[in-house]
Amino acid sequence: MIPGGTPILVLKEGTRRERGKGAQFNNIAAAKAVADSVRSTLGPRGMDKMLVDSLGDVVITNDGVTILKEIDIEHPAAKMLVEVAKTQDEECGDGTTTAVVLAGELLKKAEELVEQNVHPTVIAQGYRMAADKAREALLKVSQKVSSTEIQKLKDIAMTAMISKSASAHRKHLADVAVKAVRAVAEKVGDKWTVDQDNIQITKKQGGSIPDTEVVEGVIVDKERVHPGMPIQIKDPKIALVDTALEVKKTEFDARIEISDPSQLQAFLQEEENILRRMVDTVKESGANVVFCQKGIDDLAQHFLAKEGVYAVRRVKKSDMEKLAKATGGRVVTKLDELSKEDLGSAKEVYEKKIGDDKMTFVTGCKNPKALSILIRGGTEHVVDEVERSVIDADSVVAVAIEDGKMITGGGSSAMEIAIALRGYAPTVGGREQIAIEAFADAVEAIPRTLAENAGLDPIDTLIDLRKQHKRGKKNAGINVFTGKITDMLNEKVLEPIRVGTQAIDSATDAAVMILRIDDVIAAKGRPPEMPPGGPGGPGGMGGMGEGEF
Ligand SMILES: Nc1ncnc2c1ncn2[C@@H]1O[C@H](COP(=O)(O)OP(=O)(O)O)[C@@H](O)[C@H]1O
Ligand SMILES: [Mg+2]
Repeated sequence: MIPGGTPILVLKEGTRRERGKGAQFNNIAAAKAVADSVRSTLGPRGMDKMLVDSLGDVVITNDGVTILKEIDIEHPAAKMLVEVAKTQDEECGDGTTTAVVLAGELLKKAEELVEQNVHPTVIAQGYRMAADKAREALLKVSQKVSSTEIQKLKDIAMTAMISKSASAHRKHLADVAVKAVRAVAEKVGDKWTVDQDNIQITKKQGGSIPDTEVVEGVIVDKERVHPGMPIQIKDPKIALVDTALEVKKTEFDARIEISDPSQLQAFLQEEENILRRMVDTVKESGANVVFCQKGIDDLAQHFLAKEGVYAVRRVKKSDMEKLAKATGGRVVTKLDELSKEDLGSAKEVYEKKIGDDKMTFVTGCKNPKALSILIRGGTEHVVDEVERSVIDADSVVAVAIEDGKMITGGGSSAMEIAIALRGYAPTVGGREQIAIEAFADAVEAIPRTLAENAGLDPIDTLIDLRKQHKRGKKNAGINVFTGKITDMLNEKVLEPIRVGTQAIDSATDAAVMILRIDDVIAAKGRPPEMPPGGPGGPGGMGGMGEGEF
């Protein structure tokens, strides 16, 4: 208010604004609600969620990031937690639930500290210090894993797949993932890299999950265009064309007046000549296989078949790119320009019946790093879930090879972090010490939740776990099947270190960012839709309240 009593309005009418602790608590409540929504899925004994969208489509999954992508989240702070899950998924393909649960827990602890009048910037500072220390602790407990240690890599893949519904077949899928990733892994200098784009994933409904296999080459989900074409070509010369093998139709309506039958004959003859010339161009380049991104005229198909060329039409652009990369060929846009240099090579091109459809296989490609995983399964839902599992398995194996380090799971590494932080906190002192201790408590939420989801007593389990670690059993974790604390190295519950470090990084980032907000200014948009009695009360930011799920 200024003297005279007229308030100065700097914000547009209808803008909602919330400041101070109210804004903080509201944001924290929303973020915690998101974490609570996925908490019950954590671990091998976590439950699944059935998500029904507005059209009635159903997704049943246990995958943190899939759940959060499917549900329609509105609150801005809640959306930041969804980002945490997405980042985690992109960076390592696993640990999404862990990262979100950790972020929620960090905020819950922060809220308690804010209530005790610890300033959010102090908490943020303490959390940052704790995150650095936590990463250090993980490195200390980590163990080496190399690209030649096939069994360990398989164990890592199996751990990532255990909570998925395809887990009954995880042994086979782990074999597939490890085989594929090892084949594309490359050592550049003294660093390993895995370009997962080299692995093509093709789904074909039918058969059963154990039929899922690695194919060394590229699979194109198309059959040859003409039954008169050879079904298999050895040492193929492959042309990749991005233009139709058809006579161009005019863009505008044209009428051709034909007054006697010989003209019609000539007209048709000319069309035939054009197609004939196209096929000759292909033949002259030396190609005996054509992948065409556009259509191929019936007559051209006939000519190609007569020349003994294997041709496929309407190939997806992404497949064309894969073929180019795999066979060393070049995609040509003008057929006239097709020459010998543009052709790609492989050992074999053939058609094979998979399920009800025929597919084209290009195997033994010039680039040996090009390969495919052909996913099979009884129904569409199964094939989709197997795909998610295989992608996760590929990612963790790739990341393990790249970093060369792994940690043990089942809450064992989390407990080591908590212990390291509790030792570190007093050396820092001041108010940051409290924040670092709060971080340690938050990390323990991982073993606590694993125990809860397994139907174990969380307090007893945590005490027992802590005791074993204090005795120096660094790999002691929760055996969620027996309820005992056992050695996770023996249980082969292994994870790449990046799953842990990334979860710490993104959870800390999100928590700190949300904590530092003390003013929320929202443009007039959708009407606020607070649940009755939800956090923030009237004038809140709209969105969700705790326990909405
Ligand atoms: N056999 C097992 N015994 C105990 N804990 C396990 C086992 N397999 C995986 N875990 C733990 O389960 C957690 C991962 O659960 P998951 O549902 O896959 O969530 P996320 O999305 O975080 O990967 C990790 O803490 C991991 O160590
Ligand atoms: Mg997982």
